Amino acid sequence: MSALAPPSPTWWKPLGRDERAWVTLGLIWCVVLFAMMWVWPYIGRQNTPTESYRVDPALFRERAERFIAAYQTGTEGGTPVVTPPPGTDVYVVAQTFQFRPILKLRKGETYRLLITSLDMQHGLSIQPAGLNFQILPGYLTVLRLTPTEAGQFQIVCNEYCGLGHHLMSGKIVVTE
Ligand code: CUA
Repeated sequence: MSALAPPSPTWWKPLGRDERAWVTLGLIWCVVLFAMMWVWPYIGRQNTPTESYRVDPALFRERAERFIAAYQTGTEGGTPVVTPPPGTDVYVVAQTFQFRPILKLRKGETYRLLITSLDMQHGLSIQPAGLNFQILPGYLTVLRLTPTEAGQFQIVCNEYCGLGHHLMSGKIVVTE
C-alpha cells in the first residue's frame, strides 16, 4: 500500500459501547470544568473580588494623605494607625519599603481597599489569611474585604523590589 492510496476501510472500527460511554463522560466533564472557570469566582467565595483602574500616583498620594489625616488614631513605629469608619474607601500606599498606613478594621464590616504603588511593582500578601495581590505603579487595585475573624494580620511584600524587600511589611488589625 502506498501513502497515496486511501487507507483500508478496516483500519477504523466504531467505538464499543463502554468506550463511547467513557469518551462521552470525559467530554462532558471537560465542558463542566471549563464552565467552572467562570462560575467558581462568583460562587466559590475563595476569591477576593478585585477591580483594576489606571491611576495617577500623585493624585493617589494626595487622596491617601487626606484619608490618613481624617481618620488617624495613633502612630506605631513612625507609621500612622488609621481607623476608618465602615463604608469609607480605605487607602493603602505601597512604596519602597513600606505599606502605609496601618489599618484598624472591624470584624464583619465590608471595606473597599484602594491600593497602588508609588514606585515599582510590589506584592501585597495578607497573612495568615493567604490573600495575595500584585500592586503595580500606575494601576489601582481595589479589593472588597470583609474580615471574618479578629486579630492581627501581617501584610508582607511578596514581589522582590530591592534591598529592603524583606523589611517591607504592614499591618491590619481586626477588632470585634
Ligand atoms: Cu516591596 Cu518587595
